Amino acid sequence: MRFPKTQIIALVNQKGGCGKTTSAVAIAAGFAQLGYSVCLADTDPQCNATDSFGLRADSLVDEGAFTLADAYLKKRAAADIEYDFGNRFQGNLTLLPGNRGLGSVPLKLESELQIAIADGERTTLDADEMRTEQRQRLKRSLDTLRSKRDVVIIDTPPSLDFLMVSTLIAADWFIIPVFPSGYDLRGLELLMKTVAKVRERYNPGLRLAGVLLGNYDRTAILDKDIHEMLKKRFGGEVVFQTTIGRSVRMRDATVRGQTIFELPEAQAQAQQFLGLIQEMLNRGTKRPEQTTNPLPDESIFDKVSNG
Ligand SMILES: Nc1ncnc2c1ncn2[C@@H]1O[C@H](COP(=O)(O)OP(=O)(O)OP(=O)(O)O)[C@@H](O)[C@H]1O
Ligand SMILES: [Mg+2]
Repeated sequence: MRFPKTQIIALVNQKGGCGKTTSAVAIAAGFAQLGYSVCLADTDPQCNATDSFGLRADSLVDEGAFTLADAYLKKRAAADIEYDFGNRFQGNLTLLPGNRGLGSVPLKLESELQIAIADGERTTLDADEMRTEQRQRLKRSLDTLRSKRDVVIIDTPPSLDFLMVSTLIAADWFIIPVFPSGYDLRGLELLMKTVAKVRERYNPGLRLAGVLLGNYDRTAILDKDIHEMLKKRFGGEVVFQTTIGRSVRMRDATVRGQTIFELPEAQAQAQQFLGLIQEMLNRGTKRPEQTTNPLPDESIFDKVSNG
Protein backbone atom coordinates (compact mmCIF):
# COMPACT_ATOMS: atom_id res chain seq x y z
CA MET A 1 0.00 0.00 0.00
CA ARG A 2 1.11 3.54 -0.74
CA PHE A 3 -1.70 5.49 0.87
CA PRO A 4 -1.66 5.59 4.66
CA LYS A 5 -5.35 4.64 4.61
CA THR A 6 -7.65 2.90 2.14
CA GLN A 7 -9.90 5.32 0.26
CA ILE A 8 -13.26 4.03 -0.95
CA ILE A 9 -14.60 6.14 -3.82
CA ALA A 10 -18.03 5.63 -5.43
CA LEU A 11 -19.17 6.92 -8.81
CA VAL A 12 -22.79 7.94 -8.33
CA ASN A 13 -25.55 9.57 -10.36
CA GLN A 14 -29.00 8.03 -10.61
CA LYS A 15 -29.22 9.25 -14.19
CA GLY A 16 -28.50 6.51 -16.72
CA GLY A 17 -25.63 6.82 -19.19
CA CYS A 18 -23.63 9.69 -17.71
CA GLY A 19 -20.22 8.01 -17.54
CA LYS A 20 -20.30 6.19 -14.18
CA THR A 21 -18.95 2.90 -15.50
CA THR A 22 -16.53 4.43 -18.01
CA SER A 23 -15.07 6.63 -15.28
CA ALA A 24 -15.01 3.90 -12.61
CA VAL A 25 -13.10 1.53 -14.89
CA ALA A 26 -10.68 4.20 -16.16
CA ILE A 27 -9.99 5.66 -12.70
CA ALA A 28 -9.37 2.17 -11.31
CA ALA A 29 -7.06 1.23 -14.20
CA GLY A 30 -5.33 4.63 -13.93
CA PHE A 31 -4.53 4.22 -10.24
CA ALA A 32 -3.28 0.69 -11.01
CA GLN A 33 -1.09 2.04 -13.81
CA LEU A 34 0.47 4.46 -11.33
CA GLY A 35 1.38 1.59 -9.05
CA TYR A 36 -1.44 1.85 -6.52
CA SER A 37 -3.21 -1.24 -5.31
CA VAL A 38 -6.82 -0.98 -6.51
CA CYS A 39 -10.06 -2.92 -6.26
CA LEU A 40 -13.05 -2.12 -8.49
CA ALA A 41 -16.49 -3.10 -7.18
CA ASP A 42 -19.32 -3.62 -9.67
CA THR A 43 -22.62 -3.19 -7.81
CA ASP A 44 -24.69 -2.78 -10.98
CA PRO A 45 -26.97 -5.67 -12.11
CA GLN A 46 -26.14 -4.59 -15.69
CA CYS A 47 -22.55 -5.70 -14.94
CA ASN A 48 -21.10 -3.21 -17.44
CA ALA A 49 -17.93 -2.69 -15.43
CA THR A 50 -17.33 -6.45 -15.33
CA ASP A 51 -18.02 -6.66 -19.10
CA SER A 52 -15.53 -3.84 -19.73
CA PHE A 53 -12.70 -6.20 -18.86
CA GLY A 54 -13.94 -8.81 -21.30
CA LEU A 55 -15.26 -10.92 -18.43
CA ARG A 56 -18.73 -12.44 -18.44
CA ALA A 57 -20.49 -12.16 -15.12
CA ASP A 58 -22.70 -15.18 -15.93
CA SER A 59 -19.68 -17.36 -16.74
CA LEU A 60 -17.98 -16.35 -13.51
CA VAL A 61 -21.06 -17.46 -11.58
CA ASP A 62 -21.17 -20.75 -13.54
CA GLU A 63 -17.52 -21.32 -12.64
CA GLY A 64 -18.45 -20.95 -8.99
CA ALA A 65 -16.74 -17.60 -8.43
CA PHE A 66 -18.19 -15.27 -5.84
CA THR A 67 -19.72 -11.98 -6.95
CA LEU A 68 -20.88 -8.87 -5.15
CA ALA A 69 -24.32 -10.47 -4.72
CA ASP A 70 -22.61 -12.75 -2.17
CA ALA A 71 -21.58 -9.71 -0.13
CA TYR A 72 -25.26 -8.92 0.31
CA LEU A 73 -26.84 -12.37 0.44
CA LYS A 74 -24.13 -14.39 2.18
CA LYS A 75 -22.27 -11.61 3.97
CA ARG A 76 -19.10 -12.62 2.12
CA ALA A 77 -15.99 -10.54 2.75
CA ALA A 78 -14.76 -8.63 -0.31
CA ALA A 79 -11.36 -10.18 0.29
CA ASP A 80 -12.96 -13.57 -0.60
CA ILE A 81 -14.81 -12.19 -3.64
CA GLU A 82 -11.89 -10.43 -5.35
CA TYR A 83 -11.20 -11.60 -8.88
CA ASP A 84 -7.50 -11.47 -9.58
CA PHE A 85 -6.40 -10.33 -13.06
CA GLY A 86 -3.00 -11.93 -12.58
CA ASN A 87 -0.30 -9.99 -14.40
CA ARG A 88 -2.78 -7.87 -16.29
CA PHE A 89 -2.47 -4.36 -14.79
CA GLN A 90 0.88 -5.32 -13.25
CA GLY A 91 -1.00 -7.23 -10.57
CA ASN A 92 -2.31 -3.95 -9.15
CA LEU A 93 -6.00 -4.37 -9.92
CA THR A 94 -8.69 -6.72 -8.66
CA LEU A 95 -12.43 -6.82 -9.37
CA LEU A 96 -15.49 -7.57 -7.29
CA PRO A 97 -17.58 -8.89 -10.18
CA GLY A 98 -21.17 -7.85 -10.73
CA ASN A 99 -24.07 -10.25 -10.90
CA ARG A 100 -27.36 -9.95 -12.83
CA GLY A 101 -29.00 -11.16 -9.63
CA LEU A 102 -28.03 -7.95 -7.84
CA GLY A 103 -31.33 -6.51 -9.08
CA SER A 104 -33.34 -8.90 -6.91
CA VAL A 105 -31.12 -8.53 -3.82
CA PRO A 106 -33.38 -5.94 -2.10
CA LEU A 107 -36.41 -8.21 -2.61
CA LYS A 108 -34.55 -11.25 -1.28
CA LEU A 109 -33.33 -9.38 1.78
CA GLU A 110 -36.82 -8.07 2.49
CA SER A 111 -38.28 -11.56 2.28
CA GLU A 112 -35.48 -12.84 4.54
CA LEU A 113 -36.65 -10.27 7.04
CA GLN A 114 -40.35 -11.11 6.67
CA ILE A 115 -39.64 -14.83 7.07
CA ALA A 116 -37.63 -14.21 10.25
CA ILE A 117 -40.61 -12.30 11.62
CA ALA A 118 -43.16 -14.90 10.50
CA ASP A 119 -41.09 -17.70 12.04
CA GLY A 120 -41.07 -15.84 15.32
CA GLU A 121 -37.28 -15.44 15.30
CA ARG A 122 -37.74 -11.70 15.22
CA THR A 123 -40.58 -9.29 15.89
CA THR A 124 -41.75 -6.45 13.67
CA LEU A 125 -40.04 -4.15 16.15
CA ASP A 126 -36.72 -5.59 14.98
CA ALA A 127 -37.42 -4.78 11.33
CA ASP A 128 -35.73 -1.35 11.31
CA GLU A 129 -32.64 -2.73 12.94
CA MET A 130 -32.52 -5.59 10.44
CA ARG A 131 -32.90 -3.25 7.47
CA THR A 132 -30.05 -1.14 8.81
CA GLU A 133 -27.89 -4.24 9.09
CA GLN A 134 -28.77 -5.18 5.48
CA ARG A 135 -27.87 -1.70 4.22
CA GLN A 136 -24.50 -2.05 5.93
CA ARG A 137 -23.58 -5.40 4.40
CA LEU A 138 -21.64 -3.87 1.50
CA LYS A 139 -19.72 -1.70 3.95
CA ARG A 140 -18.90 -4.68 6.16
CA SER A 141 -17.70 -6.60 3.13
CA LEU A 142 -15.57 -3.78 1.66
CA ASP A 143 -14.09 -2.93 5.04
CA THR A 144 -12.16 -6.20 4.79
CA LEU A 145 -10.06 -4.48 2.10
CA ARG A 146 -9.08 -1.61 4.36
CA SER A 147 -5.32 -1.59 4.88
CA LYS A 148 -4.99 -3.99 1.92
CA ARG A 149 -5.84 -1.76 -1.06
CA ASP A 150 -4.98 1.90 -1.60
CA VAL A 151 -8.20 2.60 -3.42
CA VAL A 152 -11.54 0.85 -3.81
CA ILE A 153 -13.66 2.23 -6.67
CA ILE A 154 -17.38 1.44 -6.75
CA ASP A 155 -19.47 1.53 -9.92
CA THR A 156 -23.19 1.90 -9.19
CA PRO A 157 -26.47 1.36 -11.03
CA PRO A 158 -28.59 4.29 -12.26
CA SER A 159 -31.00 4.48 -9.33
CA LEU A 160 -31.29 5.82 -5.81
CA ASP A 161 -32.54 2.59 -4.29
CA PHE A 162 -31.06 0.06 -1.89
CA LEU A 163 -27.90 -0.63 -3.93
CA MET A 164 -27.05 3.08 -4.18
CA VAL A 165 -27.77 3.77 -0.52
CA SER A 166 -25.67 0.85 0.64
CA THR A 167 -22.86 2.12 -1.61
CA LEU A 168 -23.06 5.58 -0.04
CA ILE A 169 -22.91 3.96 3.39
CA ALA A 170 -19.78 2.02 2.38
CA ALA A 171 -17.90 4.88 0.72
CA ASP A 172 -15.51 7.54 2.04
CA TRP A 173 -15.93 9.64 -1.10
CA PHE A 174 -18.25 10.00 -4.04
CA ILE A 175 -17.68 11.45 -7.48
CA ILE A 176 -20.64 12.64 -9.55
CA PRO A 177 -20.05 12.06 -13.26
CA VAL A 178 -22.16 14.20 -15.58
CA PHE A 179 -22.55 14.34 -19.36
CA PRO A 180 -23.35 17.74 -20.85
CA SER A 181 -26.17 16.20 -22.88
CA GLY A 182 -27.82 14.60 -19.88
CA TYR A 183 -27.22 17.44 -17.45
CA ASP A 184 -30.14 17.59 -15.04
CA LEU A 185 -29.94 19.94 -12.06
CA ARG A 186 -33.09 18.57 -10.39
CA GLY A 187 -31.71 15.06 -10.52
CA LEU A 188 -28.51 16.26 -8.86
CA GLU A 189 -30.50 18.01 -6.10
CA LEU A 190 -32.30 14.75 -5.35
CA LEU A 191 -28.96 12.94 -5.27
CA MET A 192 -27.55 15.49 -2.81
CA LYS A 193 -30.65 15.10 -0.60
CA THR A 194 -30.10 11.36 -0.53
CA VAL A 195 -26.45 11.94 0.36
CA ALA A 196 -27.50 14.29 3.18
CA LYS A 197 -29.79 11.61 4.65
CA VAL A 198 -27.11 8.94 4.41
CA ARG A 199 -24.63 11.26 6.13
CA GLU A 200 -27.09 12.01 8.91
CA ARG A 201 -28.17 8.44 9.55
CA TYR A 202 -25.22 6.24 8.67
CA ASN A 203 -22.06 7.81 7.33
CA PRO A 204 -21.17 11.31 8.56
CA GLY A 205 -17.71 11.02 6.96
CA LEU A 206 -19.03 10.72 3.39
CA ARG A 207 -17.48 13.47 1.23
CA LEU A 208 -17.89 14.73 -2.31
CA ALA A 209 -14.55 14.24 -4.09
CA GLY A 210 -15.72 16.15 -7.15
CA VAL A 211 -18.08 16.53 -10.08
CA LEU A 212 -16.66 15.17 -13.33
CA LEU A 213 -17.82 16.40 -16.71
CA GLY A 214 -17.34 13.72 -19.35
CA ASN A 215 -18.29 13.23 -22.99
CA TYR A 216 -17.16 16.82 -23.31
CA ASP A 217 -16.95 18.57 -26.66
CA ARG A 218 -14.36 21.32 -26.42
CA THR A 219 -15.77 23.03 -29.48
CA ALA A 220 -19.33 23.28 -28.15
CA ILE A 221 -20.35 26.45 -26.32
CA LEU A 222 -23.13 24.58 -24.53
CA ASP A 223 -20.61 22.18 -23.00
CA LYS A 224 -18.50 25.06 -21.70
CA ASP A 225 -21.62 26.71 -20.27
CA ILE A 226 -22.53 23.53 -18.45
CA HIS A 227 -19.05 23.32 -16.94
CA GLU A 228 -19.52 26.88 -15.65
CA MET A 229 -23.04 26.16 -14.35
CA LEU A 230 -21.77 23.15 -12.45
CA LYS A 231 -19.03 25.29 -10.89
CA LYS A 232 -21.66 27.80 -9.80
CA ARG A 233 -23.82 25.12 -8.21
CA PHE A 234 -21.09 23.06 -6.53
CA GLY A 235 -18.25 25.57 -6.26
CA GLY A 236 -15.21 25.92 -8.50
CA GLU A 237 -13.12 23.83 -6.14
CA VAL A 238 -15.48 20.88 -6.28
CA VAL A 239 -16.01 20.56 -10.03
CA PHE A 240 -12.95 18.97 -11.60
CA GLN A 241 -11.06 21.28 -13.93
CA THR A 242 -10.21 18.14 -15.88
CA THR A 243 -12.92 17.18 -18.35
CA ILE A 244 -13.08 13.93 -20.29
CA GLY A 245 -13.38 14.60 -24.01
CA ARG A 246 -15.95 12.96 -26.23
CA SER A 247 -14.34 10.14 -28.16
CA VAL A 248 -15.38 6.90 -29.83
CA ARG A 249 -12.27 5.31 -28.28
CA MET A 250 -14.18 5.05 -25.00
CA ARG A 251 -16.83 2.79 -26.46
CA ASP A 252 -14.32 0.95 -28.64
CA ALA A 253 -12.40 -0.07 -25.54
CA THR A 254 -15.53 -1.40 -23.82
CA VAL A 255 -16.60 -3.34 -26.89
CA ARG A 256 -13.14 -4.92 -27.09
CA GLY A 257 -13.17 -5.86 -23.43
CA GLN A 258 -10.09 -3.80 -22.65
CA THR A 259 -9.46 -0.62 -20.72
CA ILE A 260 -8.19 2.54 -22.43
CA PHE A 261 -4.90 1.93 -20.63
CA GLU A 262 -4.42 -1.28 -22.61
CA LEU A 263 -5.12 0.19 -26.06
CA PRO A 264 -2.28 2.14 -27.73
CA GLU A 265 -4.80 4.13 -29.79
CA ALA A 266 -6.60 5.30 -26.63
CA GLN A 267 -3.53 6.84 -24.99
CA ALA A 268 -4.95 10.37 -25.25
CA GLN A 269 -8.03 9.22 -23.30
CA ALA A 270 -5.87 7.41 -20.75
CA GLN A 271 -3.84 10.60 -20.25
CA GLN A 272 -7.04 12.53 -19.46
CA PHE A 273 -7.83 10.11 -16.67
CA LEU A 274 -4.27 10.28 -15.35
CA GLY A 275 -4.75 14.06 -15.34
CA LEU A 276 -7.94 13.60 -13.34
CA ILE A 277 -6.16 11.40 -10.80
CA GLN A 278 -3.41 14.00 -10.54
CA GLU A 279 -6.04 16.66 -9.88
CA MET A 280 -7.56 14.50 -7.14
CA LEU A 281 -4.18 14.05 -5.49
CA ASN A 282 -3.29 17.72 -5.90
CA ARG A 283 -6.46 18.61 -4.06
CA GLY A 284 -5.11 16.46 -1.29
CA THR A 285 -1.94 18.50 -0.94
CA LYS A 286 -3.84 21.77 -0.99
CA ARG A 287 -6.69 20.86 1.29
CA PRO A 288 -5.55 18.21 3.72
CA GLU A 289 -9.00 17.89 5.31
CA GLN A 290 -10.55 17.10 1.92
CA THR A 291 -7.91 14.89 0.52
CA THR A 292 -8.16 11.56 -1.20
CA ASN A 293 -4.73 10.85 0.11
CA PRO A 294 -3.93 12.72 3.31
CA LEU A 295 -0.20 12.29 2.75
CA PRO A 296 0.28 12.23 -1.02
CA ASP A 297 3.21 10.34 -2.31
CA GLU A 298 5.18 12.98 -4.22
CA SER A 299 6.55 10.57 -6.80
CA ILE A 300 3.11 10.28 -8.35
CA PHE A 301 3.27 13.82 -9.68
CA ASP A 302 6.48 13.14 -11.61
CA LYS A 303 5.04 9.91 -12.93
CA VAL A 304 1.85 11.53 -14.17
CA SER A 305 3.53 14.47 -15.86
CA ASN A 306 6.22 12.32 -17.49
CA GLY A 307 3.95 9.40 -18.29
N1 LIG B 1 -15.89 10.45 -23.10
C1 LIG B 1 -16.77 9.73 -23.81
N2 LIG B 1 -16.89 9.92 -25.14
C2 LIG B 1 -17.78 9.20 -25.86
N3 LIG B 1 -18.58 8.25 -25.36
C3 LIG B 1 -18.51 8.02 -24.04
C4 LIG B 1 -17.60 8.73 -23.19
N4 LIG B 1 -17.74 8.27 -21.94
C5 LIG B 1 -18.68 7.31 -22.01
N5 LIG B 1 -19.15 7.15 -23.25
C6 LIG B 1 -20.19 6.23 -23.71
O1 LIG B 1 -21.43 6.67 -23.18
C7 LIG B 1 -22.22 5.55 -22.80
C8 LIG B 1 -22.62 5.68 -21.33
O2 LIG B 1 -21.45 5.60 -20.53
P1 LIG B 1 -21.40 4.72 -19.22
O3 LIG B 1 -21.83 3.33 -19.52
O4 LIG B 1 -20.07 4.92 -18.61
O5 LIG B 1 -22.52 5.44 -18.37
P2 LIG B 1 -23.21 4.92 -17.00
O6 LIG B 1 -23.53 6.12 -16.23
O7 LIG B 1 -22.38 3.90 -16.37
O8 LIG B 1 -24.54 4.24 -17.56
P3 LIG B 1 -25.60 3.38 -16.65
O9 LIG B 1 -26.36 4.39 -15.88
O10 LIG B 1 -26.44 2.66 -17.66
O11 LIG B 1 -24.81 2.47 -15.80
C9 LIG B 1 -21.40 4.32 -23.10
O12 LIG B 1 -21.77 3.81 -24.35
C10 LIG B 1 -19.98 4.84 -23.16
O13 LIG B 1 -19.16 4.07 -24.02
MG1 LIG C 1 -22.90 1.99 -15.72
